[in-house]
Amino acid sequence: MKIGILSSGGDCPGINASIRGVGKTAMTHFGMEVVGIKSGFLGLLSKNKEDIVPLDNEALSGILSLGGTILGTSREKPFKKSLNGEADERPQVILDAYHDLGLDCLVCIGGNGTQKTAYQLSQLGLNVIGIPKTIDNDVWGTDVTFGFDTAVDIATEAIDRLHSTASSHNRVMVIELMGHHAGWITLYAGMAGGADVILIPELGFDINKVNSAIVERAKVGKPYSIVAIAEGLEIEDKKLRPAIYISQKIEEMTGIEARETVLGYVQRGGSPSAFDRNLGTRLGGHATELIAKGQFGCMVSMQENKITSLPLEEVAGKLKLVTPDHDLILQGKRMGISFAV
Ligand code: F6P
Repeated sequence: MKIGILSSGGDCPGINASIRGVGKTAMTHFGMEVVGIKSGFLGLLSKNKEDIVPLDNEALSGILSLGGTILGTSREKPFKKSLNGEADERPQVILDAYHDLGLDCLVCIGGNGTQKTAYQLSQLGLNVIGIPKTIDNDVWGTDVTFGFDTAVDIATEAIDRLHSTASSHNRVMVIELMGHHAGWITLYAGMAGGADVILIPELGFDINKVNSAIVERAKVGKPYSIVAIAEGLEIEDKKLRPAIYISQKIEEMTGIEARETVLGYVQRGGSPSAFDRNLGTRLGGHATELIAKGQFGCMVSMQENKITSLPLEEVAGKLKLVTPDHDLILQGKRMGISFAV
């Protein structure tokens, strides 16, 4: 069998571990041939031979600990309607490229958008397997995505570093973490970093409750606070970044000096944690098992600590968000951490 692998959407730590997991298992255990497709779905649309690279032992060597993706990525969505509404040839170009390359399966490593595209391609008759990835941890159908653990570690270290400067200056430090729709990174890093207030899009927030948590701390001799917020937080002034809006409001309404930090892309870069390497390796290996069995149209996933799979149809178009009864929220509330709701 010949399989093609691509990575699509935002990069994250652990993609290379999963490419290696697919590639080495496919070659060594199943005797399959493996090629990499560059820049996500663009590599199949370009009709450029240079966008298809053999993934042999040499290409897969030394990549386990590398961040990003050796194949490159793009946010190309071949099923997204073109702005002028013209008939779009992109899906057909991808089908033709798949057949011209003689592929028996296409492995798509990506987040929600990629899993939806993978499903749409499977509906057109291609053999497709999805592998979930994103630092945001919001892919439906899997307990965790690789990239998340590494991002939480980086965000936690950043919060750790804010404590000393917050307390030295008696300031409120507002830190904005990634997560466009989902507050997973903010919840996990906020709790691990000992934030005093945690704001996530799933819960919303009341600014008066943010302020009262800060003022109450000041009254008991802690005139400094850490506020961890997710980038996807709904705020009134859409022109401002949430961190800037929240820190301005805190300063205006409490009179306590506030500063903001937008952590940004450092959360997505660099070497994956051991957990993310092993998750990528396991998901990649299991993807090849499905291919060998001819079980296509699925996404591999982790559920209750076991690697399993589910139909792409169940995943496509859904998001996995934090629920208000998440144990970290319940435990945090009991300890006096404010979620401002
Ligand atoms: O990968 C997920 C994510 O990091 C989101 O948290 C963020 O909103 C988005 O990607 C931004 O990525 P880009 O600028 O590459 O589109």
